[in-house]
Amino acid sequence: MAENTKDQDTSNKMWGGRFASGPAAIMEEINASIGFDKKLYAQDIRGSLAHAAMLAHQGIISAEDKDKIAGGLNTILSEIEAGTFQFSRQLEDIHMNIEARLATLIGPAAGRLHTARSRNDQVALDFRLWVKEELQRTETALSGLIAAFLDRAEEHADSVMPGFTHLQTAQPVTFGHHCMAYVEMFGRDRQRVRHAIEHMDESPIGAAALAGTGFPIDRHMTAKALGFREPTRNSIDTVSDRDFALEFLSIASIAAVHLSRLAEEIVIWSTPQFGFIRLSDAFSTGSSIMPQKKNPDAAELVRAKTGRINGSLIALLTVMKGLPLAYSKDMQEDKEQVFDAAESLELAVAAMTGMVRDMVIRTDRMKAAAGSGYSTATDLADWLVREAGLPFRDAHHATGKAVALAEEKGCELAELSLSDLQAINPAITDEIFGVLTVEASVASRKSYGGTAPAEVRKQIAWWRSRN
Ligand code: ARG
Repeated sequence: MAENTKDQDTSNKMWGGRFASGPAAIMEEINASIGFDKKLYAQDIRGSLAHAAMLAHQGIISAEDKDKIAGGLNTILSEIEAGTFQFSRQLEDIHMNIEARLATLIGPAAGRLHTARSRNDQVALDFRLWVKEELQRTETALSGLIAAFLDRAEEHADSVMPGFTHLQTAQPVTFGHHCMAYVEMFGRDRQRVRHAIEHMDESPIGAAALAGTGFPIDRHMTAKALGFREPTRNSIDTVSDRDFALEFLSIASIAAVHLSRLAEEIVIWSTPQFGFIRLSDAFSTGSSIMPQKKNPDAAELVRAKTGRINGSLIALLTVMKGLPLAYSKDMQEDKEQVFDAAESLELAVAAMTGMVRDMVIRTDRMKAAAGSGYSTATDLADWLVREAGLPFRDAHHATGKAVALAEEKGCELAELSLSDLQAINPAITDEIFGVLTVEASVASRKSYGGTAPAEVRKQIAWWRSRN
């Protein structure tokens, strides 16, 4: 088991003043975050550069010390980027690893950097900067996926496919229209990303441990230098708040749910039974035993990533639930969830963008399926309302009888004879055969947002001007 005591030399040099010994081995293991928060090195250095510049500007440290600090931090940045930096678990986290190295590099001036600052506002800053950048990457990735769908929608604005409810054939729609449904979904995700960037665009640095500081700092100056709109207003909230991480995870979860629905459709569409699409070789795999198989593994994995991403949201919500203000070490558990969800989402969006761009749309198969399953029954009912003046409920009933008859005869609605149809309702004329085709059906649905090719092209134009 872990040793409980160590000699004085092992106590932490950042805060070891009141400590007679270092941590038990197991304490070091549970406490250290360097294994994952090293990812924040660039944000940490950027934050420290801005903080030091502000301290010098306010006369809190000398310009000379500020220059030494900046020089040292830039050296550390290159060391980390070159892979020569020695990370130490004894130094717990990225903040103390960098500060300790700074002391080695520049001596006592390094000790002035932490004036008017705490690791509590420092980590809040670093993590916020990272999440903000990740949100910006997510925005770009979603725009790429939307662009892929817009291209496919344009190409297939006239291609007819069956539309489904309950996964039962409902009414014919166009593949372009179906693509545009996903554009709406990912467009909302992107809008949520933009709102989140707006919400979180406030600088935490200068909140210090929780109460602010007695030094004459200028938080507006650091906020501006770090690209934030303004500083946060309440120092207690600032070091307690992880809403920006929760918002990122919520947005990621909703987007992942959208991606998994698309993934599921791709899995279904690519079965031999549906045969609506053919996935490119680049986005499928074979079977080691069944030579005929082409498996939609990428789509399945995108569908599965949703589990990890949603799990991260629940994990961090649970970490934050019931935490008293202000900072508690529990909050150190925020980062791995966000990093994992971010990586999963990036991968899922990129894979999906590739699949959407590459997949072959089998319009012949889609069209054949669109005409089966009595998909134009509603068109018959609508015609009876429009041309024969029937109340919709009566038209529905008459059409139901026509479907039952077709089912009995084993044919499609358009294959019933005129006399068969007239036996059900004498008002029916041969005009009906023009109405029962899938092309006529989709072309007639010109209502705003409907599936008519002309309407779908309007939707595409609306999005093109916004993408
Ligand atoms: N590694 C810590 C974290 O990620 C940094 C903040 C530590 N603050 C403290 N008061 N111990 O949350």
